[in-house]
Amino acid sequence: MKNMIRRSIFLFSFIFVSAPFCFAKTSHVQAEQATAVTQAAIASAHPLATDAGHEMLKMGGNAFDAAVAVAAVLAVTEPYSSGLGGGGFWLLHTSHNGKDIMIDGREKAPVKAHRDLYLDKQGNVINKLSLQGPLAAGIPGVPAAMVTIAKHYGRLPMATLLAPAIKIANEGYVIDDSYRTYAKLRLESLRENKAAARIFLKDNQVPPEGYVLKQPELANTLASIAREGHQGFYDGAVARQLIKSVQEDGGIWKLEDLTAYQTVRREPVRFTYRDATVVSAAPPSSGGIVLGSIFRMLENYDLTEFSSVQKKHLLIELMRRAYADRARYLGDPDYVTIPTQQLLSDTHAKNWIKNLSMSNATASIDLTSPVDSNANGVDTTHYSILDKDGNRVAATLSINYPFGACFVAEGTGVLLNDEMDDFSAKPGVPNAYGLVGAEANAIASGKRPLSSMSPTFIESDDLLAIVGTPGGSRIISMVMLAILNTLDKLPVDEIVDARRYHHQYLPDKVFYERGAFTDDELLELTGMGHLLQEQSSPYGGPGSYGNMQMILHNKTSGKTTAASDPRGHGKALVQ
Ligand code: DON
Repeated sequence: MKNMIRRSIFLFSFIFVSAPFCFAKTSHVQAEQATAVTQAAIASAHPLATDAGHEMLKMGGNAFDAAVAVAAVLAVTEPYSSGLGGGGFWLLHTSHNGKDIMIDGREKAPVKAHRDLYLDKQGNVINKLSLQGPLAAGIPGVPAAMVTIAKHYGRLPMATLLAPAIKIANEGYVIDDSYRTYAKLRLESLRENKAAARIFLKDNQVPPEGYVLKQPELANTLASIAREGHQGFYDGAVARQLIKSVQEDGGIWKLEDLTAYQTVRREPVRFTYRDATVVSAAPPSSGGIVLGSIFRMLENYDLTEFSSVQKKHLLIELMRRAYADRARYLGDPDYVTIPTQQLLSDTHAKNWIKNLSMSNATASIDLTSPVDSNANGVDTTHYSILDKDGNRVAATLSINYPFGACFVAEGTGVLLNDEMDDFSAKPGVPNAYGLVGAEANAIASGKRPLSSMSPTFIESDDLLAIVGTPGGSRIISMVMLAILNTLDKLPVDEIVDARRYHHQYLPDKVFYERGAFTDDELLELTGMGHLLQEQSSPYGGPGSYGNMQMILHNKTSGKTTAASDPRGHGKALVQ
């Protein structure tokens, strides 16, 4: 219980201040003919990253080249969100054959990791160990994914793709408010690691406004990848330096962890809702399955018959159920058998909603998943890219908490992730996002922790959308709302700006941004038995969460629009 409380407080004290499937009805061939994309677009969380992506397109690169350049620049300019020391999922659509594929560059638990890694002798979770310092870090996947994407899908050489990031790392860039907010939130942890404090703080304090951050060591590591590709990070001098530094500070990485790391190409999750096909992240992300399960249940209702508050109540109830399945069944598909077909089936959806009342909230504690299965009981960033040929990329990348593990491997400039916290350290004990898990997401040697990152494509006869956001467990509910608003034909800037609400089964609460519900709706939902909690800022006043980056192409008019979440500092550009 103590663990639960401590972890939740840690979470809510800062993470959400952040500016945080069935088959297609339309065949790919039809979709391609109707699309007629003539404009390229990029939306990312940092203007310099968006600009670097456009530079690649102008040089004759495609969306995949731009995706590598954008990821590399974000690694330099958003060190609190993603980077070479982290992981992510890249959803790719190749227009020449109409195929979608997910590049899984998620971190892996080191070989020496085991299920009780973060437990003390009494079997209690020691929170700090999975959140700070080298023991919290999984084996990074971002460098491997960048190399895979450039090699198999791009046109330009790695040295060209990484040039903008190397330049910015060497010459520096002016930090923004998000940097300062996150550095303040993790100040104590950053101070505990000499290299992190030297690079990301100034005289051991949060750097002042207008501060120019230079990262020459990170530039050297990027240059090593530009020269040697995969080996430039996972073998040779950089790899040896990473291992030395991690081991000196009590980490358990071994050189074999790095040399063995590989990305995995996975079939994305695909489902239909109304007249649209949604393509989203497959396990080890929970995003696609949770979204698919929500929309499968939603198909049993006619939303036009409901008032605004009834619709919101229904969505809350559906999230509650789909997230309950997440907690029980989802994990790394290379380690556990996930009953995907069942979870996305019509029968499962109908069974789940049997006890759903339109006038009362269900208590999460009373829910028992109707799936009968043998499966073992069991500050992030997003960018969207569309090129003139209709190639698409939706990528969500993370080092988990702002500034990850607050640990830089000495001499490399690489800030390590604390993605090991996304495992279930102990069944039923919530992680930093308040998420509970079970056997399916227990720690194991070489396993990938379950994620909520949900890069997503939405496509119907008249539109095409590329969307995603950071926000921990709330990523999925933000993408759910974006799908609904897209199908309701809202303009792209309204979709990314829309007020958000979220339920994740446990804790049994509805989290919301001010404005998501009217005063009357708040009263009605409370009357139905929902426990509501408004998002607050740790500095007082209302807070917000997420940083959505979206591209919307209207197939009828041929017009492409894009938007970067006003909660963040990103930039969307249509060319
Ligand atoms: O993979 C996940 O689900 C988390 N590590 C994502 C963390 C995140 O989005 C933090 N952003 N606010």
